Amino acid sequence: MPDANWLRQQATLSLDRLWPRIEMHFAEQRAALPAEWDAFEVRVRREWPRLFGLLYELYAGNYDFFYQIEQLLIDTAQSWFDRPAWLKTLDDRREADPEWFQSQQMVGGVCYVDLFAGKLSGVRERLPYFKELGLTYLHLMPLFAAPENESDGGYAVSSYRDINPALGTFAELRELAEEFQTHGISLVVDFVFNHTSDEHGWARKAQAGDPEFENYYFMFPDRTMPNAYERTLREIFPTVRRGSFTWREDMQRWVWTTFNNFQWDLNYANPAVFRAMAGEMLFIANAGVEILRLDAVAFIWKRIGTSCENQPEAHTVIQAYNALARIAAPAMLFKSEAIVHPDDVMRYISPQECQISYNPLLMALIWEALATREVKLLAHSMITRFKLPPGCAWVNYLRSHDDIGWTFDDADAHHVGIDAFGHRRFLNNFYIGRFEGSFARGVPFQENPDTGDARVSGTLASLAGLEQALQRGDERLIDLAVRRILMVHSLILSIGGIPLLYLGDEVATLNDYSFANDPAKASDSRWVHRPAASAERYAHRTDLSTREGWVFAELSRLIQLRKQQPAIWDGAMEVIDSGNPHVFSFVRNHGGQRLLLVANFSEHPQQMDANQLRVYGPGYRFTDLVSEQEFNADEPLPLAPYQFVWLTANG
Ligand code: GLC
Ligand code: GLC
Repeated sequence: MPDANWLRQQATLSLDRLWPRIEMHFAEQRAALPAEWDAFEVRVRREWPRLFGLLYELYAGNYDFFYQIEQLLIDTAQSWFDRPAWLKTLDDRREADPEWFQSQQMVGGVCYVDLFAGKLSGVRERLPYFKELGLTYLHLMPLFAAPENESDGGYAVSSYRDINPALGTFAELRELAEEFQTHGISLVVDFVFNHTSDEHGWARKAQAGDPEFENYYFMFPDRTMPNAYERTLREIFPTVRRGSFTWREDMQRWVWTTFNNFQWDLNYANPAVFRAMAGEMLFIANAGVEILRLDAVAFIWKRIGTSCENQPEAHTVIQAYNALARIAAPAMLFKSEAIVHPDDVMRYISPQECQISYNPLLMALIWEALATREVKLLAHSMITRFKLPPGCAWVNYLRSHDDIGWTFDDADAHHVGIDAFGHRRFLNNFYIGRFEGSFARGVPFQENPDTGDARVSGTLASLAGLEQALQRGDERLIDLAVRRILMVHSLILSIGGIPLLYLGDEVATLNDYSFANDPAKASDSRWVHRPAASAERYAHRTDLSTREGWVFAELSRLIQLRKQQPAIWDGAMEVIDSGNPHVFSFVRNHGGQRLLLVANFSEHPQQMDANQLRVYGPGYRFTDLVSEQEFNADEPLPLAPYQFVWLTANG
């Protein structure tokens, strides 16, 4: 590790040397747009010491290090010149109000363009719906050019500069981003940077034997290196293919493919890869993307003898991208997709790396508590693991397009008397309906025959019991399932951070088993919870006599309620002891408002002790904002099955 002072000196020296060359390169553009250039220079000078340090750490050993950073600066400046004026205005706005995403106004939604609305034009037509629901954040699942048959739902990208022609054009994406922004909806798009598809131009050139592009990936002529790596690798998609490498007959090479055979891992030890992907990132940013979802962050750096997940250099790469974004697309935030051990999830989150992150622990433990009807693991884990550094926020979700994995910490489980190994078995059995009495209808995903590991697929409504209850035609069970659905949403809407709805869940969409008939989808059970939006369901959303109408009405009311509570700003949250093993409770306190939130995780009536209410409550007499009922703290708080209350002080 070089000395920090020495490194700072090198940073200054290198910029002194590079800057005149960059100025010369852009002489014409500078003359035409002097103010643009000044703004760029200010940001370069601000970020440079950090950026240089990070790049030095990664690439100083390469013979062409200085050439690479010069090119990187040129590309970055060019992308700044290309950045549309409305985004530069937004850059200034976001820099002046860096906490904007901590607001209780924030509500996210995610959907596939094709499945939700056919094409990008269809997504634009749904703008009134997104506003009706109250969204301020819309994640469009990968919409880039991708192989026609299997593309892992678009997560195999063939060009980052082309939209999948079936969905629309880049121009349409730009227009959509700008229009949605004027309506207060930020566009979220993926940066799938761990791998490209095997049809990407770089992969094609590698297939044609171009050594420059072979070095973009990991290629081996025989099994020596793959075997050496595999001794310590985890298999991600073991039912697709064993191991992490794919044999390419055409190239006579083993190619590193962490996910599917057609997803080729990029080699970030090669500075050309870093630079090429930086260019793609800034290109995507300039379409008007405000939140960039960094896909599969854990996997981007490989080191022999390790799991090749969460390596220190993965953080260095992301931080260097963060610095570039601060220079040339400062309105854009990074969102981390690290579905790994909670300690590792945390390491990606900081203002210098990813400002926001999925919260897979909360997600998994909400399902865990629903299965066990006990909140001890949820409460303990949230006490110790919810707090984030200032300037960062969780994205709290219940379901995504992916499976559910039980990523809690074994020692946390042990601490509350739970055997982690057995518990994961139980949870898998519970959610795939192999456990007697379970309400859930899930489907196993990637059961590993060697380790017994598995994950769970299924829509929120099916996992929460609605599918089974409807099949039985049992009104009481239907009622319980709907209450579960609403209660878990109430948690992500109030606990702190950005709530993210998987669109379809707001109208209680059930599993769709028809994926099994589609050869391109049959081997991936995640498609069970990715059905096309049902026009009929959405039409029913205003009809309160239907289940979907009921769920939609209640959820919309909760979203509006969230937006009106100053206490729900940011992520400061205190879990409290409810005194009841089935009851999860926490306090939010901000802007002169104190809220006590309480949720019953069981299908039986419960209560919260009056003493606890007096200690933590927002006063002595309070109102539940959800039911509009009043309570006094001299009696225990009664809770119906799966009831949740948002208590506020009465004057
Ligand atoms: C991410 C995506 C997942 C995909 C994987 C590979 O985890 O969420 O759907 O399979 O990356 O890109
Ligand atoms: C693994 C990966 C995660 C990915 C998921 C897809 O859990 O860690 O990144 O989303 O697989 O199933």
